[in-house]
Amino acid sequence: MDRLQEIGRRRTFAIISHPDAGKTTLTEKLLLFGGAIQTAGAVKSNKITKTAASDFMEIERQRGISVATSVMVFEYNGMQINLLDTPGHKDFAEDTYRTLTAVDSVILVIDSVKGVESQTERLMQVCRMRNTPVIVFINKMDLEGQDPFDLLDEVEKKLDIKVQPLSWPISKGYSFKGVYKIYDKALNLFESLKTKINDEVVTVDDINDPKVDQFCGEYAQQLREDIELIDSVYEPFDAKRYLSGELAPVFFGSAMNNFGVQELLDKFIEIAPYPKGRESDLKFIAPEEKKFSGFVFKIHANIDPRHRDRIAFLRVVSGVFERNKFYKHTRLAKDFKYPNPVTFMASAKNTVEEAYPGDVIGLYDTGNFKIGDTLTEGENFQYRGIPNFSPEIFKELINKDPMKSKQLDKGIRQLTEEGVAQLFLQEPGSRKVVGTVGELQFEVIKYRLEHEYGAKCDFETKSFYKACWITSTDDSKLGEFKRIKGNNMVIDKEGHDVYLAPSKFILDMEQNNYPELTFHFTSEFKTQNA
Ligand code: G4P
Repeated sequence: MDRLQEIGRRRTFAIISHPDAGKTTLTEKLLLFGGAIQTAGAVKSNKITKTAASDFMEIERQRGISVATSVMVFEYNGMQINLLDTPGHKDFAEDTYRTLTAVDSVILVIDSVKGVESQTERLMQVCRMRNTPVIVFINKMDLEGQDPFDLLDEVEKKLDIKVQPLSWPISKGYSFKGVYKIYDKALNLFESLKTKINDEVVTVDDINDPKVDQFCGEYAQQLREDIELIDSVYEPFDAKRYLSGELAPVFFGSAMNNFGVQELLDKFIEIAPYPKGRESDLKFIAPEEKKFSGFVFKIHANIDPRHRDRIAFLRVVSGVFERNKFYKHTRLAKDFKYPNPVTFMASAKNTVEEAYPGDVIGLYDTGNFKIGDTLTEGENFQYRGIPNFSPEIFKELINKDPMKSKQLDKGIRQLTEEGVAQLFLQEPGSRKVVGTVGELQFEVIKYRLEHEYGAKCDFETKSFYKACWITSTDDSKLGEFKRIKGNNMVIDKEGHDVYLAPSKFILDMEQNNYPELTFHFTSEFKTQNA
């Protein structure tokens, strides 16, 4: 197979959901389909349920699992599917946001009982920033969930995306009969806890076929009315609008019951985009370009001091990555080679000889990488667009051992380069404010600073609401704002001005008072203006 064919058969995506909607179950069922695992239960949930500091080994064990399943590769109908795992725990949401920069599309799982939940909304905001194509899978149709039309309305309103049902449920809960495949004109009949993983469908001429009455009984009439309504309300499916992230096709199913998963996968490989190129600070790099390039979007470090290995996850953007070949680390302007690049599969790591655009490989690292770094085949550019999002919890880092301040500085710098948290500096005195999306990170930082760097610290809570990166073309206004808001002004690690807003109310007020300033809620603007 030549290089272009290899690129053309790759599909790289992530499954995202609010915890408990069924991401792990669906992942497992997709892997069963792909023959990547033989039995259910092989994929462990990467949920971290305990948050106490004493549970570090548990956290680490769980993180270990999530590394082992970071990239799941399987073959389906001649396609190579790269499924990137995202952490289930909301405290690791920032990890998920970064992973979303390395995929080409996502499958969003929604619980039919709970509908659109908070984490789903935030994840979709990230998808919309890059116009990532989204397929929605409404799960748990075997339960008495919400009305499907209401669910679609909720998705459109809360997630700000148009939807298009490609299948439609026939009743739900106890009386769930299955789905009608709108475009294939077939009934996919539900069987509780079915052991076979393949869908068994009954083809019909159209929705008025008597077979619909035969199989759906008393629910046939309702189905006909629903389909009529769908035809009049929703436009026909438009693949282009899906690919530009404007329109999400919707499927209904029950991952636990192996129901609707094949339908989802079949449609996924038909419509999902093949590896996309990425913007660099020099030009747009297309996957077909001959020379290899890629970027690091995640770094996993081992908390266990006996195993200090770090793994940097690199998404291949162009060309072919080869084992043992020298590549340029463009930030350091140095060449490195990688004798043991790996892929991961259900707890087994495999060495890879070569990797193509769309693939994600793990590179063992001794501290050379930070998130966003670029490797090339000699060319001099840097990929853009792994943004920081505003943290939600802010604490000042307090040094508890003045003799170890160098270690503390080095430790916190390295941990924040790995993406564990964000670091802001405040003058005078170079006070360090650490921002995260969850409490768990502070425990992780404290533990790692002590065990890996021999530095002891404490955290003092700061009641900030949001971090906003501030820019302006009016230097004097910017200067005035920085002077007046001195107590709330910090700089990020690249020296950009950041305003730590104390509350939503005050933030809204400042935005009104200072129309000359732009308040950015992610650091993405840096890459746009760079
Ligand atoms: P997550 O990764 O999104 O957090 O969700 P996960 O797959 O772990 O699923 C959360 C719970 O929902 C699990 O139950 C799982 O069995 C259940 N579930 C998943 N799909 C379906 C479905 O189609 N129908 C129904 N009724 N339940 C479903 P649990 O009790 O938390 O765990 P477990 O003991 O079953 O593993």
